[in-house]
Amino acid sequence: MTMPVFDFSGKNVFVFGGTSGINLGIAHAFARCGAQLAVASRKPEKVEAARSALSHTHEALGYVLDVRDFDAVKAAVDDHVTKRGKIDVLISGAAGNFPAAAAALSPNGFKSVVDIDCIGTFHVMRAAHEALAKPGASVINISAPQAFIPMAFQAHVCAAKAGVDMLTRTLAMEWGAEGVRVNSVSPGPIDGTEGMERLAPTPEDKARSARAVPLGRLGTVDDVADVCLFLASDAARYVSGVVLPADGGWTVGRGFGGLG
Ligand code: NAP
Ligand code: COA
Repeated sequence: MTMPVFDFSGKNVFVFGGTSGINLGIAHAFARCGAQLAVASRKPEKVEAARSALSHTHEALGYVLDVRDFDAVKAAVDDHVTKRGKIDVLISGAAGNFPAAAAALSPNGFKSVVDIDCIGTFHVMRAAHEALAKPGASVINISAPQAFIPMAFQAHVCAAKAGVDMLTRTLAMEWGAEGVRVNSVSPGPIDGTEGMERLAPTPEDKARSARAVPLGRLGTVDDVADVCLFLASDAARYVSGVVLPADGGWTVGRGFGGLG
């Protein structure tokens, strides 16, 4: 578990897609460091469970929405501004994934993932821009190695996450003058998550994934959350426009890097 070496007391952190897995872990890490949290996703029961679990120090806010619906995202941001004020740390992590051969994938299957990951990230950033604390806000988009490493049966995710990283780089340029930093974090294979269950469902798959990591193990949710804490902190005040892997070196070897 992340120990609170970073202090986010008095800061507002809004995590889109923050109700399970890696993104919920990120939300918990910020809450342990004193931040006030808001989370949003589609399923009311997940939103309420996350909101309640994140309310240990400060009451968290929860929003039921689909990031594909710009108006719903904007309404959540506006409500947040009314209740809490500006957003200091904005995290866009809502995503969809499933393995599918491109030749058999329906156009709507491809579109669904691009809509959630890439267009959803634009919606989140666009809707929140006015509400970001300026100067000083930090935006973190949750990406994936598929953004820059072609992966079979992942054409939809590769296209979607490549778009996410280009949004990161482009908006880092546009928003830098306002004192807003924009970065991506790219997790490797993270144990116990929905993404891993979908792409590596068997124990053999997981062992193969771990062997491909130079550090020799699957990642944990906290391995990713700690990188987000760093990126959002003053220690990273001169870091913007980067895609920072939290992957044990997986991308160095393009998934073939482990010697184990
Ligand atoms: P997860 O638990 O399924 O997290 C996805 C989150 O997004 C959930 O809170 C989900 O909640 C929400 N969500 C999905 N579609 C949404 C939509 N249309 N609108 C609003 N919210 C939506 O998956 P995870 O494996 O932890 O992945 C989290 C992030 O890490 C993703 O961005 C993923 O691409 C990235 N990543 C994961 C891995 C890995 O090993 N797991 C590796 C690389 C990158 P609802 O169902 O309630 O909407
Ligand atoms: N293989 C091929 N196509 C699939 C599929 C699969 N496993 N799962 C869904 N699709 C297709 C559907 O057939 C549909 O296309 P169609 O209308 O041509 O039939 C399209 O994708 C949309 O499916 P639907 O179930 O209506 O989408 P949704 O908006 O309810 O859900 C998903 C979005 C498909 C991405 C769903 O998997 C999801 O909600 N994922 C979130 C959790 C997640 O993926 N976590 C891991 C993050 S790394």
